Amino acid sequence: MRKVSRIVLAATVMFAVVLSAAFAGGSKEASSSAGAGKIALLLPETKTTRYETADRPDFEAKLKEIAPNVQIIYSNANQDANLQLSQAEAALTNGAQVLVLDPVDSAAAAVIADKAKAQGVPVIAYDRLILNSTGVSYYISFDNVKVGQLQAQSLVNKLQSMGIAKPTIVMINGSPTDNNAKLFKQGAHSVFDPLVQAGKLVIAKEYDTPDWSPDQAQNEMQQALTALGNKVDGVYCANDGTASGAIAAMKAAGLNPIPPVTGQDAELAGIQRILVGEQYMTVYKAIRPEADAAAELAYDLLSKTPVPASMTDGQTVNNGKMDVPSVLLKPIAVTKDNIKDTVVKDGFWKVSQICTSQYAQACTAAGLQ
Ligand code: BGC
Repeated sequence: MRKVSRIVLAATVMFAVVLSAAFAGGSKEASSSAGAGKIALLLPETKTTRYETADRPDFEAKLKEIAPNVQIIYSNANQDANLQLSQAEAALTNGAQVLVLDPVDSAAAAVIADKAKAQGVPVIAYDRLILNSTGVSYYISFDNVKVGQLQAQSLVNKLQSMGIAKPTIVMINGSPTDNNAKLFKQGAHSVFDPLVQAGKLVIAKEYDTPDWSPDQAQNEMQQALTALGNKVDGVYCANDGTASGAIAAMKAAGLNPIPPVTGQDAELAGIQRILVGEQYMTVYKAIRPEADAAAELAYDLLSKTPVPASMTDGQTVNNGKMDVPSVLLKPIAVTKDNIKDTVVKDGFWKVSQICTSQYAQACTAAGLQ
C-alpha cells in the first residue's frame, strides 16, 4: 500500500513536472513571438520641437504599452533627405518589419517606400504623405488643407477687426519638399485669393522656406520689410518656427506693435509669444492621437492583425500612384482666448510649463492662473 502510494505520488509529481515544463515551454514561446519584432520610426528634423518633445515619446509610450517586447529603431534625419534614405536602409538591414516614416522630402521618399515594399515591409506615411509609391500602407496626419484655412481665416478676421481696409500681408510658407507645406499653402490661398481678386487684400511678398528653417524665415521677412518699407499689416507663417524667425526680423526692424502673425504646432514658445501678444495665433494638432494611431497601426501590421475598419472609416488620399487608406485628424485654431480650453485642457502643456515667471503676468491676464 505504502509502495503503491509512493509510486502514485512519484507519477503525479513527474506528471506535474512534465506538465509545467510543457506550459513553461509554451508560454516562453508565446512571449518571445507575441509582440516581439522591430519597428522603425523615422522622423524628419529637430528644429521644430514637436518631433522630439511629442511625436517620439508619444509613439514610444504607446508602443511600449501595447507591445512591450517590440524594439523601436529610431532615427531623426535633421532635414537631410539623403541621410533619411540611409537611416531607412539601415533600419531595413537591421530587421525592421514596419517603417513609420515622416519624410523630409515627400517625393524622394518614394525610393524608401519602394525598397521596403520589395522586401515585404509595410510603410506608414506619418504626418507627411509619401508621394508616387505603391508601397504606402497607411497615411496618418491631419486635415492639412484645413490647417492653412484656419491660419488664413484667423488672420483675415483679425485684420478686419482691426479695421484695416485693404491689408498688405506677407506669406512665409513651409518647405517646398514637404507635401504638407503645399497643402497648408493651398488652404491659405483658398481663403486669401478671393479677397485679393476682390481688391480687399494684397499679398505683397510670398516665400517658400527651405527646410522650414526659422533662420531662413527671418531672412525672408527681413527682405520683405526692406522691399515694403516696413509697411506690413499681417504675416502668414506656416508654423511656429517660421513665425519665430519672422517675429525676430520685425523686432529687429523696430516694428511696434508687431502685426498679427500666424503659426502652427502650439509649440511652447509659440503659446508664450501668443500670451504676450507677439504672435496672434497657432494651430494645435493633438500629437498624441496621431502617434497613438501610428503605433497601433504599426503593431497591427507587424503582428498581421487585421486593422479595424473604424481606423480609417474608408477614407483614402491619393499619392499619385495609389489611394492610401488614411487617418486624418482635426486641427484647431488657438488664440489667447482659447489656450486654456485647448492645449491646457488636453494636457499638451501644463500651466506650470507655460507660465514661468517671465509670463506670469500675461498668464494671469489670460485667465490661465
Ligand atoms: C508638420 C508641421 C511642422 C512642419 C515642420 C509639417 O509637415 O505637419 O507640424 O511644423 O512640418 O517640421
